[in-house]
Formats: sequence, structure tokens, C-alpha cells
Amino acid sequence: MARTLDPPRVLSIADLRDLARRRLPRVVFDYIDGGADGEVTLRENCRVFDDVTFRPRNAVATPASDLRTTVLGLPLELPLLLAPVGSSRMFYPRGEEVAARAAGAAGAGYTLSTLSGCRLEDVKAASQGPVWYQLYLVGGHDVARAAMERAKSAGFSALVVTIDTAVAGQRERDAKNGAKQLLGGSPWSMLPYLPQLLARPRWLAGYLSDGGLMKFANVVLPGQGPMPYADIAAALEESTVCWQDLRWIREAWTGPIVIKGVLTGEDARRAVETGAEAVVVSNHGGRQLDGVSPTLRALPEVVAAVAGRAEVLLDGGIRRGGDIAKALCLGARAVLVGRAYAYGLGAGGGAGVTRAIQILRTDLVRTLKLLGCPAVRELDRSYVDLPTAWGRS
Ligand SMILES: Cc1cc2nc3c(=O)[nH]c(=O)nc-3n(C[C@H](O)[C@H](O)[C@H](O)COP(=O)(O)O)c2cc1C
Repeated sequence: MARTLDPPRVLSIADLRDLARRRLPRVVFDYIDGGADGEVTLRENCRVFDDVTFRPRNAVATPASDLRTTVLGLPLELPLLLAPVGSSRMFYPRGEEVAARAAGAAGAGYTLSTLSGCRLEDVKAASQGPVWYQLYLVGGHDVARAAMERAKSAGFSALVVTIDTAVAGQRERDAKNGAKQLLGGSPWSMLPYLPQLLARPRWLAGYLSDGGLMKFANVVLPGQGPMPYADIAAALEESTVCWQDLRWIREAWTGPIVIKGVLTGEDARRAVETGAEAVVVSNHGGRQLDGVSPTLRALPEVVAAVAGRAEVLLDGGIRRGGDIAKALCLGARAVLVGRAYAYGLGAGGGAGVTRAIQILRTDLVRTLKLLGCPAVRELDRSYVDLPTAWGRS
């Protein structure tokens, strides 16, 4: 598989996406690729990077490009973390472990979703880099508390609390592909949707050898064990995280807290007041409320509201190293990527994730050199032009 990921076959994240589409059944590919409702925010997340243009300093030699930074005091070889992506184990056998291993080896961080298939201890053991745990309150407070304790003792260095999931967004592609029926329906209701699985025998063989339908290994229900895979929309709706919850979460988790899903100055201030050490400007990759602003557009407002009291990270729409540079110019300390690495995982497991990170890293080095900027820590507003309308907000 690794050979098929080499250039010139795979030069960009879009190439990995094509390979993922070929290896994965439609229901799995669309679960990764799709967004909520009309997918307006999903598209805008990517497109908005075109609105910001670079202002290079030419005739400047920068022999070494320094990509290193720290996030919450932890050193990273490049300003990149893998975002929490639920059900990664469906994309590739032991998906969360292989992704975490690839991130650690590349000097990037990894964030494990609550809705993952591998045990958090195994994921931590697989990575030599920083690993964060993303919290949903699925299963209730006691279940969440137990997961936090396990994450703490396994050595997860930060807790990421996602706040934009009061209900699951309507992902029309999932409904059309029969995701619900395939995940928990009767054999009869599953039948019309089975051909898409059979059409991808290589994926199917891996899936079955990895135990078939995963359980949520880190949502351990009292008396029942790991929560069986199900349509989790109802579970999410019963477990909305509210600002008041941050109080008991703060008590239960002694390490740094990252609030993910901040899109406005008001929420950013609130996050800082509740003691968050970092916020992620995120709209869940356009999978939740369609029609919210793309994250790059929301970033300046959040950076201004936080005013240096917490670190600001961004995710959404990052497909090239140049996108990372633009986010850093606008005040993000680092970025998270979701689909960029999920496509890699779906295309070729750990090798695909490694290739995704390598693509972004190579892009970023080239971008820094062409900008005449020696280090990511030196990127700032002076390297970009913004549309005039942005200045007014
Ligand atoms: C397939 C998939 C599953 C996701 N699952 C979660 C999750 O379990 N928890 C969470 O906080 N965010 C989740 N997200 C959102 C990502 O963490 C991140 O915010 C988003 O992917 C960023 O946009 P990008 O995909 O354009 O990089 C998921 C995203 C995708 C694509």
C-alpha cells in the first residue's frame, strides 16, 4: 500500500481523498466526507482560505524553516494536531491506534474521540507524542468521570470538551446510505444497503478481521461494559455539555482543558472565564449547525476576545500547508485537522496518515520559504491581506 501513496500519485490531500473513496464503502467514505444539511459551512470552511492572500517578502533566504511550537507547554515538531474523529476504527483496523502512532512519530499531537473503537490506554501506548482526550458526556456524568480518570492515569495531557453537539447535525448522506440500518437495524432492513460493503472486499476483510462492528471502548456503562455501537444521535441529545458542567469537569480533571466549538467572541470569553487553557475555533467541520461562519472568518474575533488569556487553535477546512500558515498569521497557535488525516487513514492506514502529515509539513516548509519567513512562530498579520469587509467586523 505504501508505494501507492508516494508522489506523483499522491501529492495532495485531495489525492488521499480519492484513494479513500476507492477503498472505503460509500457509507464510510460519506460519513467522513459529508457535512450537515446543505453542506454550506463544510464548503465555506475550505473556500474561505482563498479570501486571504499572502504578502511574501521576496529575496529573503531562509535556509532552515523552523516549524516547532508548543501547545499548552508541550513541544510539537509542527503546529499540527489530529482532531478527534469518532469511529476511526471503521476506516481501518485499529484506526485510532495507527493514527496516534503516525502522529507521534511525526511530532504532531493526537486527540482521541470519546466515540472511538480502541481502548484509550492502547491509543496512548501507541503514540510517542502528546495525546489529548475529547469528552462527550455520552452515558452520563459517572461514565464520563470514569473515562477522565482512565485518561488521566494513562497519561493523556489535556481534556478537550466539545460544546457544539447539543444534537447531532443532520448528515443527509448518512441517512441516504443507510448508516442507521447498517449499524443496528434488523437483517431485513440492512439488506438493501449491504452491496456497498460487499463492493469493497479489501476494506471488508480488514473490518471483519478487526472484529466487525466496533464498540465504544471508552464509554463503559455500569453493569454492561463498553457501549455497543448504535446511532448515537439520541445519546448525544441526552448529554449536552453546558457551561455549568465545566465546573464539575474542572474538578474531575486536574490538567488543562480545551474548549472545542467556539465561534464567537462571547463564547470565547465564557470559555476563558470557566478556566479553559485553550479554545478551538471550530464548527465541527461543518457537520453540526450548517450556515455558521467558516472558522477562519471567526478566528480574528475569537483571538481578540481571548486577548492572550488562553491559547487559540483552529480547525476546519485545512487541506494544505498554506492553510495552516494563514491560520497562524491570523493568530492561531496551531491547527487541528480532521478529514485531511481521516482520508489518509481510510486510504492506507498508518501509512496514509503519515503521508497526510508529510504533505502538510512539506507544503508548510515551502510556504514559509516563499513567504521569506524563517519560523512558524514569526507568522503574523503582516504576511497576509484580508478582504476589506473583514476589517470592519
Ligand atoms: C468523520 C468525523 C468524525 C468526527 N468526530 C468527532 C468527534 O467524535 N468529536 C469531536 O469533537 N469532533 C469530531 N469531528 C470534528 C473534528 O474534530 C474537526 O472539528 C473537524 O473535522 C475539522 O474539520 P476538517 O475535517 O475540515 O479538518 C469529526 C469529524 C469528522 C470528519
